[in-house]
Amino acid sequence: MADAGFKSGLEDVVALTSDICFIDGKEGRLVYRGYDAVDLAQHASFEEVVFLLWYGRLPNETELSALRRELAESSDPHSAVRDLIASLPVNTAPMDVLRTAVSLAGIYDPDGNAMDPEANHRKAVRLVAQIPTIVAYFEQSRHRREVLRPNPQLSLAGNFLYMLTGQNPSEQSVKALDTALILHADHELNASTFSARVTAGTLSDIYSAVTSAIGTLKGPLHGGANEQVMRMVDAIETLDNVRPWLDRAFAEKRKIMGFGHRVYKTDDPRAVVLRRISYEMGETAGTLTVYQLLEAIGAYVRERKQLHPNVDFYSGSVYRMMGIPADIFTPVFAISRIAGWTAHILEQYHNNRLIRPRAEYTGPTHLAYKPLAER
Ligand SMILES: CC(C)(COP(=O)(O)OP(=O)(O)OC[C@H]1O[C@@H](n2cnc3c(N)ncnc32)[C@H](O)[C@@H]1OP(=O)(O)O)[C@@H](O)C(=O)NCCC(=O)NCCS
Repeated sequence: MADAGFKSGLEDVVALTSDICFIDGKEGRLVYRGYDAVDLAQHASFEEVVFLLWYGRLPNETELSALRRELAESSDPHSAVRDLIASLPVNTAPMDVLRTAVSLAGIYDPDGNAMDPEANHRKAVRLVAQIPTIVAYFEQSRHRREVLRPNPQLSLAGNFLYMLTGQNPSEQSVKALDTALILHADHELNASTFSARVTAGTLSDIYSAVTSAIGTLKGPLHGGANEQVMRMVDAIETLDNVRPWLDRAFAEKRKIMGFGHRVYKTDDPRAVVLRRISYEMGETAGTLTVYQLLEAIGAYVRERKQLHPNVDFYSGSVYRMMGIPADIFTPVFAISRIAGWTAHILEQYHNNRLIRPRAEYTGPTHLAYKPLAER
């Protein structure tokens, strides 16, 4: 979209330097602190990736155990946050619950508004640990289920599925969620991370920055797309309906959720991994219906629009097979992206400069004030 002398939406604008994440949009590569994210997704755990994003190197065994312990010890939010969750209308959107609960958690954080690096690291640990439990508590609360407290023996992914579904998750589900969390953990200056850095850049506190980020992630052009993909799959329903449904959408100039990307001009490497997991989980569940619909949609959108599937295209199908409800898909994105948000906020504090772009003004400049009675 070209405007006078620049592309709108800050396209291709480099706003800052960062050591955290590199995206090669032409080659379809995503790199966290020098490591290929696809390689990490295959070999590492989400907790290892959190450490990597924060500290710039992989943890040794002692460091990883210490982080796991800290996360487990910090995972239960303050009782005021639990009370808030229990008091909310059952039809509240989970992303609204998360945004409000995180904001409240900041008020009760034992480090308050302290801005020294150690306090900010402790707050980052609490945020990574509590975002999954906040989401799971709301799921329990809206279904009036028995309140399950976090199980410190489980990994972050395992505990989230346990608290969310009320059942011990299968090994395959835990591994698949852990992989998805790694793949979503960071993505350079995506819209929500940019929001977080803009807020942190004013030297506001980390909870305020994360609250901004959650509000930004919620939109369907960002984290909300995976939920919309599954709504599309449900609306299409049969393979025969794929082309007529998409033809209508193209004719009405509707955006097809789960396709296109501001940076990738080839296959999104995260979508490639999630596609495989979607197939494997479908096989285990004994039904490939959703996978086959996704494949048919993907092929036709590629043929007609030359658009590639992005990370949101297959993730919803994977989450659904784990028993995660559709309106929790975007909160799952937040459970992962909090790793990247906090890494970026800490980096922003470390080397801060206020982020304040300009707008090219296109309105009038010399209007004369007219008294109310003359308008
Ligand atoms: C991700 C996204 C917001 C990137 O937006 P962007 O960089 O501003 O790109 P634009 O919206 O300007 O798209 C460029 C062109 O491709 C088309 N396009 C991009 N994504 C499309 C989609 N998902 N469906 C249909 N057409 C699409 C646009 O209509 C536009 O065509 P035009 O030049 O003829 O007007 C956009 O691709 C989109 O809305 N995708 C759907 C939502 C989604 O999946 N979001 C998750 C991202 S990980």
